Amino acid sequence: MAALMLEIRIEEKVFPTQGGRKRRAIFRDFALDVPLGQVCVLAGPSGVGKSTLLSIVSGIDRGFGGTISGRALPVGMMFQTPRLLPWLTALRNIELAIPGRQHEAPRWLAAVGLEDHGEDHPQRLSGGMARRVALARALAVEPALLLLDEPFASLDETTAEAMRLLLGGIFAKRRPTTLLVTHDLAHASALADRVVVLEGSPAGITRDVAIARSHGSAPPRAGQGGSVG
Ligand SMILES: Nc1ncnc2c1ncn2[C@@H]1O[C@H](COP(=O)(O)OP(=O)(O)O)[C@@H](O)[C@H]1O
Ligand SMILES: [Mg+2]
Repeated sequence: MAALMLEIRIEEKVFPTQGGRKRRAIFRDFALDVPLGQVCVLAGPSGVGKSTLLSIVSGIDRGFGGTISGRALPVGMMFQTPRLLPWLTALRNIELAIPGRQHEAPRWLAAVGLEDHGEDHPQRLSGGMARRVALARALAVEPALLLLDEPFASLDETTAEAMRLLLGGIFAKRRPTTLLVTHDLAHASALADRVVVLEGSPAGITRDVAIARSHGSAPPRAGQGGSVG
């Protein structure tokens, strides 16, 4: 039977001592369950462990004690820094993520408003543009699990709003299970089913708030259609 819940259990996550920094546990006995299809916003102070948590959930970081179960595939991830391959054009960076579906890459570049920049290499793009290419790459894989690390950072307000609309449409239509890290709670609450706040060291959940969304993209219930209001 398919899993109904992304179950995050971190017994311990520590980074080894380096450069005079003390070894400390980022997470200890941490648990978070995310129902499939839920859009869960993660907030909390800088350095609390949000990016680390996304890396663990993605499967990229295996250096922890604990288990991640119910991880739906494929996973689409947008890192806090764009992590584009510098020797490839914007378009090729997206194509590489979707083998067999490369012809769809221009559509994703257009979805983030960068259809005129497909042949540009990352160093020719502004920080905000590179982040949008990274967002397009994460979305292009048509993820069942979507991990977004500060997707609206370094975007002007108009562009950020366009990206929120894009994500809102994808949440309504495709319902990926989503963990979205952002500081912009006012805007995030328009997209989220739930806001989880991490604080402390090791990090714990200090607030866990359900959000009633108005645009009809809450996780599906039996007999409920996928209408967008
Ligand atoms: N590769 C690493 N090696 C050592 N310490 C790290 C590494 N990555 C992150 N950290 C530390 O772990 C803590 C959590 O980092 P991070 O997950 O990036 O926080 P956030 O995304 O919430 O700002 C920070 O104190 C950071 O300095
Ligand atoms: Mg971070």
